[in-house]
Amino acid sequence: MPEVKNKNTDQIITGKEVFVPFLEEEKIQSRITELGKQITKDYQGKTPVFIGVLNGAFLFLADLIKNIKIDCEIDFFKLSSYGDEKISSGKVTLLKELNCDVTGRDIVIVEDIVDSGLSIKFIEDLIMRHNPASMKVCSLLVKPDSLKYNVKIHYIGFNIPSKFVIGYGLDYAQKYRNLRSIYVLRE
Ligand code: IMP
Ligand code: MG
Repeated sequence: MPEVKNKNTDQIITGKEVFVPFLEEEKIQSRITELGKQITKDYQGKTPVFIGVLNGAFLFLADLIKNIKIDCEIDFFKLSSYGDEKISSGKVTLLKELNCDVTGRDIVIVEDIVDSGLSIKFIEDLIMRHNPASMKVCSLLVKPDSLKYNVKIHYIGFNIPSKFVIGYGLDYAQKYRNLRSIYVLRE
């Protein structure tokens, strides 16, 4: 087998902007392993439902549940709030409803990134209306300085500065989700 080198390790040039390396694949994966261990421990004897928020959380959810060593289920919400911009529109629309019944279940909402907290607040309100047994939030990234809504993030991969990031599920105008590492906008 020929050795395949990842060519995307330097910077990402989108046209107007330059993104530089921020969180490497190895660092992301080892943090996800730790999160998986913690969640496995916290949910012993239970069968949690991991609900990913599309599109951004699809990679994180996939890697996270590979590190969950108890029975679990998955489902997805699809929200839209950003359009193709780097700044939130401040509006959230539900594009895909859940297929599972959350009543009486232990729910873990899985997000790629929490910025203002609006999306999480929206989802929490939606889920709470269906009386789950419990509800926690797990986000790979959190921008603590950008939080505007009163939300508690129970499992956090990394707290990061309020800068725009791409890669590992996170997009800019729908692109760059396929990058294995996370890159930050160079200012
Ligand atoms: P919030 O509703 O303001 O918390 O924004 C959360 C959503 O906005 C996330 O699920 C992402 O889809 C998107 N988002 C926030 N910050 C970034 C970023 O830096 N890069 C890419 N997407 C982001
Ligand atoms: Mg998202």
